[in-house]
Amino acid sequence: MRIAVVGTGYVGLVTGTCFAEVGIDVTCIDIDEKKIENLKKGILPIYEPGLDEMVARNAQKERLSFSTDLAGSIQGCGCEAAFIAVGTPPGEDGSADLKYVLGVAREIGRNMTDYMVVVTKSTVPVGTAQKVRQAIEEELEIRGVDIPFDVASNPEFLKEGAAIEDFLKPDRIVVGVASEKAEKVMKKLYKPFLMNGHPLIFMDIPSAEMTKYAANAMLATKISFMNDIANLCEIMGADVNMVRKGIGSDVRIGNKFIYPGIGYGGSCFPKDVKALIRTASENGYQMRVLQSVEEVNENQKSVLYNKIHSHFQGNLSGKTFAIWGLSFKPKTDDMREAPSLVIIRKLLEQGAKVRAYDPVAMEEARHILGDTIEYGKDEYEALIDADALLLVTEWPEFRSPNFAVVSKLMKDKVVFDGRNIYDGVDLSEKGFSYYGIGVKK
Ligand code: UGA
Repeated sequence: MRIAVVGTGYVGLVTGTCFAEVGIDVTCIDIDEKKIENLKKGILPIYEPGLDEMVARNAQKERLSFSTDLAGSIQGCGCEAAFIAVGTPPGEDGSADLKYVLGVAREIGRNMTDYMVVVTKSTVPVGTAQKVRQAIEEELEIRGVDIPFDVASNPEFLKEGAAIEDFLKPDRIVVGVASEKAEKVMKKLYKPFLMNGHPLIFMDIPSAEMTKYAANAMLATKISFMNDIANLCEIMGADVNMVRKGIGSDVRIGNKFIYPGIGYGGSCFPKDVKALIRTASENGYQMRVLQSVEEVNENQKSVLYNKIHSHFQGNLSGKTFAIWGLSFKPKTDDMREAPSLVIIRKLLEQGAKVRAYDPVAMEEARHILGDTIEYGKDEYEALIDADALLLVTEWPEFRSPNFAVVSKLMKDKVVFDGRNIYDGVDLSEKGFSYYGIGVKK
């Protein structure tokens, strides 16, 4: 089997590489020449555990190739499917900008020579596959040819940092189709990924498109709900960690995605929640729950800063804050919508000094923050003479530091734990002032 994947961002690169891993011939296409040149040399545009070896292995076996030539890769390629996995950046009004998706659709229409299923893999609003169909039809009409094709919607549910595992062993695969022929192609493609017994769910195209947004919106809702409960726990003298365990053992609620913290970030939840609110309002409906989810999340990004402000009685000027973790979550260098940025900017505004360390996101941080902060060469160096430690991203290496060393390096022994990872460590016994989220001091 042969396929083309257009767009070598997060979703496209993981999708193409994982399909190649099971023996499918894959051409990954991108307009960014530098990116493709690098990929050919085995240099990846993103950090994702295990992906570089998988790219190298499949490229070496000549099942995975990279090209900037979309037209040449589509004409007479014998591809049974072409995946569109290009970006859908949020426009100013919060709606997903489809110019790249539809641009690719037109280019496919201008160059396809045989039947194929054109699959939208990017997260796109309900109705996009229909627009993709129209764009291709228009191009075929201009060419005056009648080549049969189908469109399909196949949303992606992979998580950054666990993308390969999520793709190879998915909880479920959702595919929206409008013909039996397309269903057959998609079944054949995904058969190797169904070994763990999880389902391949076929449905109509708009439902598949909606499923993606509903899934992310539901997860974001769980997080904001728990953050709200955590804030109330603090006021009422309850401990959200206990409450979390208490409710999570009810299988209807589940114990995943109910960890309070300093708000969700990344490229997906913030964008998708906004887009769904927008789609609804454009169609005369108000997503009241999601509006609150967004508002709670914005406030939550300041919760740690508010605790710092009150601990130091507003006197932050000249103080040094050590920050552990900059990426929006562990195992990624992604800093899009990262709570760390909100906290850092607020501290800098108050005249404080920030020294940060992150296992992989330092380079990305330098692009965004430049020299406005200092960078530690490891987590301990970041602590030297610090007035407080802020745990912002729960990287595994921050979980059990040597607190005797921590205590020696710091000027003042204060820990603000934005992810509750030191819950149960009893830092007060070690002489620290400890602040978590929704837990007793
Ligand atoms: C999310 C979804 O989990 C994926 O299923 C989806 O495919 C992806 O978006 C997407 O649409 O592409 P991702 O953004 O990589 O994946 O990250 P998550 O692991 O879901 O974490 C999102 C945010 O929620 C992080 O900031 C994390 O710290 C926060 N979070 C997560 C919490 O605050 N509490 C939790 O209990 C769980």
